[in-house]
Amino acid sequence: MHSNVSRLSTGLCLLLIAAPAHAQSDPLITNVRARRITSLNGTWQAIIDPYEVGYYNIRQSPISDGGFAANRKPRDRSDRVEYDFDTAARLLVPGDWNSQSDELFFYEGTIWYKRDFDYNLPAGRRLFVYFGAANYEAKVWLNGHKLGEHEGGFTPFNFEITDYVRDTGNFLILKVDNQRWRQAVPALNTDWWNYGGLTRDVFLVEVPRTFVRDYFIQLDRRASDQLAGWVQLDGPELRQQVALRIPEAGVEAVLQTDASGYARFRFHADLERWSPQDPRVYQAEVAAQTDRVSERIGFRTVETRGHDLLLNGKPIWLRGICIHEQAPLRDGRAFSEHDARTLLGWARALNANFVRLAHYPHNEYMTRLADEMGLLVWAEIPVYWMIAWEHGATLENARNQLAEVITRDKNRASLILWSMANETPATEARLDFLVALTEVARSLDPTRLLTAALVSHYLDDSTLMIDDPFGAHLDVIGVNEYVGWYDGLPEKADRLSWRMVYEKPLIISEFGAGALQGHHGDPLTRWTEEFQANVYRHQLDMLERIPFLRGTTPWILTDFRSPRRPLPVIQDYWNRKGLISDRGVKKQAFYVLKDYYADIAGRYE
Ligand code: GCU
Repeated sequence: MHSNVSRLSTGLCLLLIAAPAHAQSDPLITNVRARRITSLNGTWQAIIDPYEVGYYNIRQSPISDGGFAANRKPRDRSDRVEYDFDTAARLLVPGDWNSQSDELFFYEGTIWYKRDFDYNLPAGRRLFVYFGAANYEAKVWLNGHKLGEHEGGFTPFNFEITDYVRDTGNFLILKVDNQRWRQAVPALNTDWWNYGGLTRDVFLVEVPRTFVRDYFIQLDRRASDQLAGWVQLDGPELRQQVALRIPEAGVEAVLQTDASGYARFRFHADLERWSPQDPRVYQAEVAAQTDRVSERIGFRTVETRGHDLLLNGKPIWLRGICIHEQAPLRDGRAFSEHDARTLLGWARALNANFVRLAHYPHNEYMTRLADEMGLLVWAEIPVYWMIAWEHGATLENARNQLAEVITRDKNRASLILWSMANETPATEARLDFLVALTEVARSLDPTRLLTAALVSHYLDDSTLMIDDPFGAHLDVIGVNEYVGWYDGLPEKADRLSWRMVYEKPLIISEFGAGALQGHHGDPLTRWTEEFQANVYRHQLDMLERIPFLRGTTPWILTDFRSPRRPLPVIQDYWNRKGLISDRGVKKQAFYVLKDYYADIAGRYE
């Protein structure tokens, strides 16, 4: 329930402007796996609560004693307690709940999670609980104390528990609610499964009293011999000397943080460039007096020059593919390093150098592995189709999700594009909303390019025009089109030409067709592998005729679950536009695209 209006028992109606859920977590700790972590992954206790009786009374007001979060036990044989985690169901974390039991397959609502743990926190150290993601809204308690809330199903959040954790008998409880909601981001309608729950890793993160919470280390986009960025400490001793080291490059800079624990830097550095051909990464260390943290970072620049996209100053052509966070070879959300290695390995097998992680921030294994494998990345927030453009809290939520993914991934060389939206209507309200998001992205990350998946329109029956006004605010134009699937039959592509009002690089960010793997027929029989391959052949010929095209990410690497695809036998709630089936079997169109990418691999490289 997301009501901002709470009805008092007297029938009075008070408009309670509840603080937006997403605004109630602590500043994000980055690079958590390099810290002293304790995993809380594994089996959690779970109570399915479709009527949210664990949180609201019959007047829809929060229960005063904390409800299920209090984890009460009957005081004596007469006491009434109508829930019990110890004898409740069990769920694996990380993992969506929908794919863990048949009765939860379609479930949209609240499930309560509980995990017990002991922790001996040494004096002078601090402890946080970190969630890779929880879809969609999470309320979090430790030992009955409300830590806070988070809204948004695909970005990390953490809470400090230093003052609430005890040596033994801690109980961590979450209320996770994946009900869709008109003012949410995404809103009511998506062409992907609404996988709910604690869908990514959960860690306890122990840090010194004053620690290196965050840092940004990248090349200056405008002066590529300059290493630029900042460091942020967190704790009582904020004024410290901080050494920034990249030993393999002979970099050693000593910074002095200010009263807020912050220090900027910019200095000359000779660093080999990261690229898909040579994904060169360096061990970078940020060493304060009270804490140090390190990670592998690649250094490259990305910019545009007219219709060209430049990586390290040289034009590139993006041989891409779209990817949903659909687990390979099983049902459910992908969440592991193994899942990431499988999915990105399949993209590599396509001769791709680029992946569009649609339509929301994927798990961190994807972007870190893309760094290592040399795959460029388009990252995206789920501002998808219809959003409550004029609802203030909705914009705040979208801003926050964008800030969280930029905070998490800003040191990833592979990530070159932040996408603001997908297929949104060209209205004034939407334009204002999206321009506000570009301002967040440009202020948080001046090193990357902004894009979005826009739609085109027909000027006449053979000319497609790209002139969405939001394009004026982007560096790179993305356009989705489905000529041959939603728009005519495959050979329609042969007679189309394209125009664009922007002197900017164009990426065809979606085209495709559905096919049930193993279903065969003639090239005009829909749902056959032959039809899908036919669409790809005509599409690729058309793309070759677009002079300002600099890349494409066909829709999509693998079949994925969608509530919008009920066609029995063919779909069975799978979107079948994958080049690879839900069982990992490649379809004919996979090889059409692979061969095309092999043919053009030398383009600009
Ligand atoms: C749209 C949308 C995708 C969707 C696809 C389809 O372009 O961006 O999210 O899955 O088309 O219809 O399969």
